[in-house]
Amino acid sequence: MTALNTRPDLDVRALVAELTLEEKAALCSGADFWNTEAVERLGIPSVMVTDGPHGLRKQAGTADHLGLNDSVPATCFPSAAGLGSTWDPELLRRVGEALGTETRANDVAVLLGPGINMKRSPLCGRNFEYFSEDPYLTGELAAPLVDGIQSQGVGTSLKHFAANNQETDRMRVSAEIDERTLREIYLPAFEKVVTRSQPWSVMCAYNKINGTYASQHPWLLTEVLREEWGFDGLVVSDWGAVDDRVAGLAAGLDLEMPSSDGVNDARIVEAVRAGTLDEAVLDRAVTRILTLVAKAQPALAEPVSFDPEAHHALAREVATRTAVLLKNDGVLPLDPSAVADTAVVIGEMARTPRYQGAGSSQVKPTRLDSALEALRERGLDVPFAPGYILAEAAGAPGQDRTDDELRREAVQLAAGKTAVLFLGLPAVDESEGYDRTHMDLPASHRPLLREVSEVAARTVVLLSNGSAVTVAEWDDRADAILELWLGGQAGGSAAVDLLLGDAAPSGRLAESVPERLAHVPAQLNFPGENGIVRYGEGIFIGYRGLDAAAAPVSYPFGHGLTYTAFEYTDLTVEVAAITAATQADDVIVTVSATVTNTGGRDGVAVPQFYIGRPASAVARAPRELRGFERVELAPGESRQVRFTLSRRELSHWDTATHGWLVEPGALVLSVGASSRDLPLTATVTLEAPAQRPPLTKNSTIGEWIEDPEAGPALVAAMGEFGAFFGPDSPDPAMAAFLTSMPVVKVPLMGMSDAITLEDLDRLVARYGKA
Ligand code: BGC
Repeated sequence: MTALNTRPDLDVRALVAELTLEEKAALCSGADFWNTEAVERLGIPSVMVTDGPHGLRKQAGTADHLGLNDSVPATCFPSAAGLGSTWDPELLRRVGEALGTETRANDVAVLLGPGINMKRSPLCGRNFEYFSEDPYLTGELAAPLVDGIQSQGVGTSLKHFAANNQETDRMRVSAEIDERTLREIYLPAFEKVVTRSQPWSVMCAYNKINGTYASQHPWLLTEVLREEWGFDGLVVSDWGAVDDRVAGLAAGLDLEMPSSDGVNDARIVEAVRAGTLDEAVLDRAVTRILTLVAKAQPALAEPVSFDPEAHHALAREVATRTAVLLKNDGVLPLDPSAVADTAVVIGEMARTPRYQGAGSSQVKPTRLDSALEALRERGLDVPFAPGYILAEAAGAPGQDRTDDELRREAVQLAAGKTAVLFLGLPAVDESEGYDRTHMDLPASHRPLLREVSEVAARTVVLLSNGSAVTVAEWDDRADAILELWLGGQAGGSAAVDLLLGDAAPSGRLAESVPERLAHVPAQLNFPGENGIVRYGEGIFIGYRGLDAAAAPVSYPFGHGLTYTAFEYTDLTVEVAAITAATQADDVIVTVSATVTNTGGRDGVAVPQFYIGRPASAVARAPRELRGFERVELAPGESRQVRFTLSRRELSHWDTATHGWLVEPGALVLSVGASSRDLPLTATVTLEAPAQRPPLTKNSTIGEWIEDPEAGPALVAAMGEFGAFFGPDSPDPAMAAFLTSMPVVKVPLMGMSDAITLEDLDRLVARYGKA
């Protein structure tokens, strides 16, 4: 490994002062596809940034951002859909360290990832690259991944900022999202990773948000990201995301990638000369770019090497932890000593694994394990039939036949046996660049499963897909279902470890498996039309929406079984009162519970903590995840887990004050095994200052009456009419009807002679400041 021509001593401030206007403008875009511009005259080196996220895609030859051309071998870890299912921050840190080492070993300064957009619709073609439908879980997992990568002296690029939740029309579409939904659903994961882990860079998304391209959105890139969250790194464009370069620079987009062939550099120079762009804005962007270049110099000056075998072993361990056991009637784990005689393996994906997604994240693995090979390596000569045609397996034995022929052969083989069926989505069904049109298994897989299950003694289904597939149509035909996601280069051997019980499944669903796509509220507005997608479901994505609609699910968010069982007991709750002096991070609620392994094997429980605000003044999801822990337990062993809630974690985004607001009143606290299996629940009353908007003439009678001082004063001023609203109201139904009227209507509509407009003015002057 040779050290690059590095400059450990870059003095950024001095260099910015020495650069010409043209040189500064040129630095603001790439030299080519993957490298920043160098300035030889001043000894400014160029650095390489490259994909990401679940392995390194460094192209040595022809460059592209679509995953078309070859790249250097690198460890292909499970993609984020699987990493999200581990619910294991510690493991994510280890994956990050390995990714960072490979990045550094390949002389790359920044790995372009992780991708932390929310899974708004199960159809998003790129869901395999994202962690979850829940912002809390996403942030908790992405932050340690970033820490791990950056611990190796190289950087990350947190992407795609923000609201890039579909691939359809991704380079133009405007995501129309209300303020509260942005703050509670689409921004919190970014906020957590930025504030906790300081990623070296943030990559802005292609799409527009409420009409403005993310690449030139001053509110997003400067007000929120830098001023509110304190981000001091570099903002880079997604590849080709720049619309108006000068507007982008002013909004806070520092680096354009890839090179715009000098076109935008010239525009920047022109704008500075014309006085429409302040040169200080350009200097600021150049400072950030050179700061990143300087930050990478120590690591690039001291290249490392990595052990591909050790990283492969880590990829295998990770893959065993990404798998989610959806269902098991006891057939799993299989008995290794009986498997060769009693089981058959069906499905081309057992031989030709589907292990990563298509597009810019496509890694060239250092090696690739298939489940079939892994069985053979253990001396288990289990009979195999491909079962269906798989485009990516062209040329493999049997792939020149028809689906019908392959199905018939597989059904014959399965008769009377334990059929281990490898099903899932072929590469063409999910990819960067386009969305799915349905969420079912392919047409050739479903009849295969049906017919095999009719003749087999037992049916075990292993799924390889990057985003949830519906299972409702065939769920009862399977005795066990193991969701493998896209397991990376060691996914095949990891699947065998799980099947044979060498490892026990410990993953939990980071996305819901709805019974039907139509039950997902976002589908009412997906993927939009005429360049606009309205996020009409608001905060109700994923389990939030399914729970609010009481929609049936096949498997709920948070669900996952293992080869043992757990019991949850002993909920304790402590609640402090919130006062005006309480800070955002102060702990208000502490909850503890005990989890016990009641089965006969070691296993991992993932106790989850949810909150609900049933009497809220704003629309709320029935429950929201606010904590989780991964607990390894031997048979009979118990452990106490503890969760806390800060003031901020109890708050919602208030659109009247444009800030985080905590409401007093009922707070439901639940602990259990999934979003729909919460055996422990307590309801407490949260004390917090009541936040009432200032009373005006247009406040309703009800709003006045809620105020302990203004209410009685108004009732008294209204004379006889006021008696309607007391505890001895002569007509409670009429009182209820009138309570929602603005108080100004009382004199205006002649409802009471006692109160005049002037009286009302006096009341407002006295009580109106709330
Ligand atoms: C993708 C990014 C990726 C970039 C560079 C874009 O098309 O959206 O995620 O990092 O290309 O390949």
